[in-house]
Amino acid sequence: NATDIYNILVSDTMSKEGLQPLLESDLVHCVQQNVAEVDDLSKFDALLVRSATTVTEELLTKMPNLKIVARAGVGVDNIDLDAATKHGVVVVNAPDGNTISTAEHTFAMMSSLLRNIPQANASIKEGQWNRTKYQGSELRLKTLGIIGFGRIGTQIAQRAKAFEMKLLVFDPFLTKDRAEKLGVELGSVEDVLAQADIITVHTPLTKETKGLLGMKNIAKTKPGVFLINCARGGIIDEQALKHYLGTGHVAGAALDVFVEEPATDRELLDFDNVIATPHIAASTKEAQLNVASQVSEEVLHFLQGAPATNS
Ligand code: MLT
Repeated sequence: NATDIYNILVSDTMSKEGLQPLLESDLVHCVQQNVAEVDDLSKFDALLVRSATTVTEELLTKMPNLKIVARAGVGVDNIDLDAATKHGVVVVNAPDGNTISTAEHTFAMMSSLLRNIPQANASIKEGQWNRTKYQGSELRLKTLGIIGFGRIGTQIAQRAKAFEMKLLVFDPFLTKDRAEKLGVELGSVEDVLAQADIITVHTPLTKETKGLLGMKNIAKTKPGVFLINCARGGIIDEQALKHYLGTGHVAGAALDVFVEEPATDRELLDFDNVIATPHIAASTKEAQLNVASQVSEEVLHFLQGAPATNS
């Protein structure tokens, strides 16, 4: 009904500018408040979240009017999808708004890891001047193994080419033809494990990818391999990673994501050759504007009867 006013709850912090389509629309009333602080959740038609809000069955039960949950980001692992289906709630995301930011962050992590930039930065600020300790390695001619070759993996490959890296990718959905077109070599997981000097993962966290780089698979990597995870905590098994950092088999790891966030595993973070950031790969002005405006537009259209495009 065109005269209806829809109630929208924005539970996590989002770009104000990105929310403009909702804030300016006469069709909706938008409340920006955490779900935990809202007394009556029953009136809301739409819920917008990033990763801080967990959408559980219990929450959905408190929101009988809810029609759509929109995730201003890519990963929907903070949303109980089965429960949403059961409650007839559509779940949408913003699949490409933070692709470039995440690819750039992964690249920054890789450069930092191979040149010990965070460690050298910390040491110079402590008054030291240690040039030999922080000798690194070039990226040129190194084989970069990319596991998961979707939007983000593709953008990383493009950047890696400018650095004259060799690219070996695994993705079950990638054809040989498309790999050739994109100028990368397609291999199996085993190929990537055996041949890559640096491995970066860019898959969602699923039953298949959880612990993908665990005890068995890390053992198959080259001694001195570098591992990067800017995707989801748990794709690299943290216990296995600690084991192989301890033996020296893994030369270093760059992590933006953790099994538990905020990250609490001191033993992992205390390795000198582990560099870490607090899940900020998508934290740029550009990406946050993109994802917030993508979901705002999508929610607005959906509430007016259009089918969801990114469900
Ligand atoms: C995502 O899934 O989009 C990223 O992890 C960023 C975020 O959690 O906001």
